[in-house]
Amino acid sequence: MAQQALKSSAPMGKRRPFMAFVLDDETRATLGRVAEDQGWSDGEILEGGVREAIDALAGVSTPQVLVIDLSDSNDSLGDIGSLAEVCDAGTRVIALGNINDVNLFRNLVALGVQDYLVKPVTVEALNALVVKAAEEPAAAEPEEAKAGRLIAVIGARGGVGASTIAVNTGWLMAHEQKLRVAIVDLDLYFGTVALSLDLEAGRGFREALENPNRIDGLFIERAMVRESDNLFILGAEEALENTFSFDPAAVELLLDKLRCDFDCVIVDFPRAVVTANAYILSAASAVAVVSDASLAGMRDTLRLVAFTKRVAPAAAVKVVVNRFGAAKKGELSKEDFERGAGLKIDHLIPQEAGVAAISAGAGKPLVEVAKRSRLVTALRKLSSELAAVEDEPTKAPFWQRFLKRGA
Ligand SMILES: Nc1ncnc2c1ncn2[C@@H]1O[C@H](COP(=O)(O)OP(=O)(O)O)[C@@H](O)[C@H]1O
Ligand SMILES: [Mg+2]
Repeated sequence: MAQQALKSSAPMGKRRPFMAFVLDDETRATLGRVAEDQGWSDGEILEGGVREAIDALAGVSTPQVLVIDLSDSNDSLGDIGSLAEVCDAGTRVIALGNINDVNLFRNLVALGVQDYLVKPVTVEALNALVVKAAEEPAAAEPEEAKAGRLIAVIGARGGVGASTIAVNTGWLMAHEQKLRVAIVDLDLYFGTVALSLDLEAGRGFREALENPNRIDGLFIERAMVRESDNLFILGAEEALENTFSFDPAAVELLLDKLRCDFDCVIVDFPRAVVTANAYILSAASAVAVVSDASLAGMRDTLRLVAFTKRVAPAAAVKVVVNRFGAAKKGELSKEDFERGAGLKIDHLIPQEAGVAAISAGAGKPLVEVAKRSRLVTALRKLSSELAAVEDEPTKAPFWQRFLKRGA
């Protein structure tokens, strides 16, 4: 039976059925018996703990069942985290150790470990576990409804290019990365998102925000302006004499709905809107704080980053200095900016007045008119980071929860 179960779930490749790293002879003997019972002639039982396992498995295909002895580890959770990085999807890990502690057990399971057994282990217990591991789908493959990423772009000051960055990264995600993207312009009076794509802001946005109970998929579809199959804009151009304060709960609801429908929802947040409605930010996966290289920009970047980390501790915060080189004098150097803000600049984007002029003249985004410029190369890097193409765990969905937490 046991053999049957393991074989039927074996993938087509030549992945090894089993490997173990153990630290004492007794456990090694027990495992030998288990391997025999399971018919794993080509499995391996090696001498060592989790560090040896990591060294041995880095860069090679990892087995279906991996037994790890944690008893010489001073930091079991940290070591399991490192092990996660070298494990392929579908590898089930059974940990052994000396510590009988339910919290440790829970934490290991939360990190994706299939089970934890306190030594000495019996042949029966291990046999039962490996059979179970082979029958069950890999532990942490949560079937959560996949919500799109919420990406906030905030300018530390006016004119630093926050809207430009929202539009251009959105365009790249939609046209080059082939993601479905919505850009939401929360500057309801002076927003420039639609304008810079040569589109007219629709009329529905204000209504949506004033009547949040009307927000549904159909309503959003009507309120949005379509740039292309993959890129939709939600913005407004309110008359200046119209004062109205929108309900942040409505914005939150709207963004939630959009995330069900789009891979990425990029929000161009005016500074004042962010600070007044901090909790809208809390759902963000990534926040780009955009500044120029001025002293005031540096100060406000520092304040906005600190603010963002407080209200959205889970978000990846990117410090973007844009229009670098625009004001030759009176501009801080990269080093001075970083030292003064106590922050690393993640993206330094050059000022390119020529490209900006062509873009404005054509009513097309920078990234469309100058695909190979330095400016667009820098924007492309930012865009793929914000869309998290890189941090998508390609190797180990099994460990997804852990990787996400570490990101
Ligand atoms: N890297 C850049 N090089 C040249 N011009 C830029 C760059 N980034 C933005 N701009 C220009 O700066 C102006 C202000 O940009 P905008 O995105 O509206 O700023 P914000 O939204 O921060 O107020 C626009 O005219 C835009 O074309
Ligand atoms: Mg703007």
